Amino acid sequence: MNFTEPKPTIKAFSLKPQDFGEDFEFGVSTAAYQIEGAHSIHDKGASIWDTFTSKKGAIFKNHHGQITCDFYNKYEEDILLMQSMNIRNFRFSLAWSRIIPNGFGAVSKSGIDYYNKVIDFCLKCGITPWVTLYHWDLPQALQDKGGWTNRDIVNWFENYVQVCAQHFGDRVKHWMVLNEPMVFTGAGYFLGVHAPGDKGLKNLLPAIHHAVLCQGIGGRVLRKLLPDAQIGTTFSCSQITPYRNTPRDILAAKKADALLNRLFIEPILGLGYPTEHVPVLKRIEHYINPEDENNMVFDFDFIGVQNYTREMVKHHWFVPYLRAKIVPASKRKVKSTLMDWEVFPPSIYNMIKQFNQYEGVKKIIITENGAAFPDTLINGEVNDTDRKHYLQAHLEQVHKAKKEGANVDGYFVWTFTDNFEWAEGYRTRFGLVYTDFKTQERIVKSSGKWYQSFLGNQ
Ligand code: BGC
Repeated sequence: MNFTEPKPTIKAFSLKPQDFGEDFEFGVSTAAYQIEGAHSIHDKGASIWDTFTSKKGAIFKNHHGQITCDFYNKYEEDILLMQSMNIRNFRFSLAWSRIIPNGFGAVSKSGIDYYNKVIDFCLKCGITPWVTLYHWDLPQALQDKGGWTNRDIVNWFENYVQVCAQHFGDRVKHWMVLNEPMVFTGAGYFLGVHAPGDKGLKNLLPAIHHAVLCQGIGGRVLRKLLPDAQIGTTFSCSQITPYRNTPRDILAAKKADALLNRLFIEPILGLGYPTEHVPVLKRIEHYINPEDENNMVFDFDFIGVQNYTREMVKHHWFVPYLRAKIVPASKRKVKSTLMDWEVFPPSIYNMIKQFNQYEGVKKIIITENGAAFPDTLINGEVNDTDRKHYLQAHLEQVHKAKKEGANVDGYFVWTFTDNFEWAEGYRTRFGLVYTDFKTQERIVKSSGKWYQSFLGNQ
């Protein structure tokens, strides 16, 4: 891990979309639970996020996603706004419990109709839909049977992917199987800070292995049913830097890198779990069946790299299994976002380079990058210069990696409108477009106006 240190950006941002190459795609990313609302309309089943947000104290100020941006009802308006902002690629996820209310079994006609309308409207507006199959909102009915810890999830998921491919595959040509498995297994099944709020290794280890299997099986189902589709899956990743240049901190950084950046990609590529740095992962063997080895591997057309920050890591005796601890940005007194994530653009460059080094990675798409800053609405305007600079600085790093030969071919901003930010509720805004959650009014921020003019400049 020899990483490039940051150089301050002195020049004004001067890149144009065509500088990234003809095939490079720019877009915006979202997720169903964060934007849709309409949480119990028609026969929609509850998801683990419906349940988790109803637990007192689970989420900042007990916020929930029952209405959020009301995208369910406002999709036409939002997609038209996207079109007017020159955005030609829209990444969104499907809510499993809207399509199959109990997770397995009867398919909901109204759920299918709804996504058909969204997809058709995108295409009518000249916007390409990029669909994520699973962005964290597991049907509660499946969680009641153990959710990701139950091996049956492999069959439930396979069936769900088939249903989606059969109904939408004639028009959707870009698919992502999972969104950030490290986050939904780690935060949801180990730390308990995301839905379903479970804790401990006994939940984490089976959840990891079943998510790995579903990555592979989901990819295989899509490839079989939709041979001309572009199939990917996405990973959260952050450059890991040792806090001090000591052997212990360097080792701690290696462990964190294995856990945060390598754990889900390496099994797909046939490299197995990175147990050499995190020996506790050897216990996953307990959940591996003989036929799993083949099913864990899949040759994705692209890998979605999602990057927001870098992490500094130090040795720490009291963290069980890992003996490593993240030193938060606030402790380091560096420039950071409202999430307490350091603003460190070279991280995206280094992550592209790190993922590009894997022989089996054919193409990288940056499927998420963005920032939460304290936006204020003054006289009908949001001047979010910090966000604009953040996005520009990250695009410069993506461009640099591309120029040096990395196979990176897309960049999606997280996110389009401010939305429900999981455990943070509505405290942190990431949008290019401001959402007034009382009136559902959309106000394009100055970062959104900049993205619009950047994209228009082709
Ligand atoms: C997730 C998004 C989330 C964003 C900002 C990513 O981890 O995929 O759902 O809102 O980061 O926290």
